[in-house]
Amino acid sequence: MTTEQVDYGTFEAALIKSKILERELHENPEKHKILTGDRPTGKLHIGHFFGSLQNRVRLHKLGVPTFIVIADYQVLTDRDTFEGISENVRELTIDYLAAGIDPTDGKTFIFPHSHVPELNQLLLPFLTLVTNAELDRNPTVKEEIVASGQKSINAGMYTYPVHQAADILFCKGTVVPVGKDQLPHLELTRTIARRFNHRFAQDKPVFPEPQPLLSEAPIILGLDGGQKMSKSRNNAIMLSADEDETARLIKRAKTDSDRVITYDPENRPEVANLLMLISLSTGRNPEDIAAEIGDGGGGQLKKMLTEALNEYFRPHRARRKELEKDPAYIRQVLLDGVQAAREEAIRTLEEVREVMNMML
Ligand code: TRP
Repeated sequence: MTTEQVDYGTFEAALIKSKILERELHENPEKHKILTGDRPTGKLHIGHFFGSLQNRVRLHKLGVPTFIVIADYQVLTDRDTFEGISENVRELTIDYLAAGIDPTDGKTFIFPHSHVPELNQLLLPFLTLVTNAELDRNPTVKEEIVASGQKSINAGMYTYPVHQAADILFCKGTVVPVGKDQLPHLELTRTIARRFNHRFAQDKPVFPEPQPLLSEAPIILGLDGGQKMSKSRNNAIMLSADEDETARLIKRAKTDSDRVITYDPENRPEVANLLMLISLSTGRNPEDIAAEIGDGGGGQLKKMLTEALNEYFRPHRARRKELEKDPAYIRQVLLDGVQAAREEAIRTLEEVREVMNMML
C-alpha cells in the first residue's frame, strides 16, 4: 500500500498514513523534503522537546533534507507584543541546535520567514485559491481566537494558514511533522497545492501535496497536571532551566493523595504525567517505574523525576550554554538558512509566475 491510497478523513487515517510515510522516509530519505516550523514566542520547554523536537531530530538524522521555518510574522496574529521577536528567534535556534539539529550537514536550514520575500509573495496567488468561508471554519484558528482573549481579530489571524501554505510549498516540502492541531492547516496547504496545479499547471504540476507526519509522542501535561505544558500557563520546565530550578519546579508539581504510585493516566493524570516524563528520560516503561516506587509516594516520585530529567538534559543544557556564548555563530546559522531558503523561493516563484502568465 502507498500513502496515496489512504484517505485523510480522520485522525486515525492520518496516523496510519504517517506509519507508511515513516517507512518511506527510512527507505528513501533523499526523495523527500521535510518542512517544519514554530512561532518564535519564547524558549522551548520539555513538553516541546518530547512532543516534537526529539522527533524532528530523529527524522533529520535519517538524512532527509530539512527546512525549519521560524514563523515570525505569525507572532503578530494573536498578540500585540513584538518586542521579544528577535530574541525569541535566537533562543529557538539555540534550542534546535542544542537538541541535535545540525545545519553543517549542508541539507538542513533554519530561517525566519520574514527574511524571504519570495516566499511571502506566494501568499498573494494562494489567497485567491481559498474562500473566506474556508478560512472562517478552520477549527485551530477558532480556538486560537478564543485563547487570544482579543476583542478584535486581525485579518492575519484568518489568513495565516494560507501563509503557512507558502512556508511549506516555497521549497516544495513533501513531509510536515506536526501535532494534531496543525492538521487543518496541512489540509488547507494540500488544497492550495491541488487547486494551484489544477488552475495554472495542468500539464506539469508545480507543487507536490505535502503529507502530515504525526508522531506518536504523548502530549505532555504541565506540572499542574490539568492542561498541556505551556510557558504562558506557568506550568513548564524550560530546556534552559538549570538543575536547581528543575528540582524546585518539580517540588511544586501536583500529585494526588493516594500514597501508592500507579500508572493510571485516566484516573490519575498528574501522577501518570510525571511517570511518563521519567519514562521518556530513562527509556523504562512507566508501569515498572510505578511499581518500583510503590508506596514511596509523591516524594519519591518527584525525587526520581528530578534526577531523571537532570541526567537526561545534562548534555543538552551544556550545549545550550556553549551556544549562548556564541551569538555570531547563531546569526550565521540563520543567515545561511535565509540564503538557502531564498534560492529555493526564487526558483519556485519564477515557476509560479511562468505558469500564471506573468512573465515579462
Ligand atoms: N502554525 C505553526 C504553529 O503554530 C507554526 C508554523 C508556521 C508551521 N509555519 C509552519 C508549522 C510550517 C509547520 C510548517 O505551531
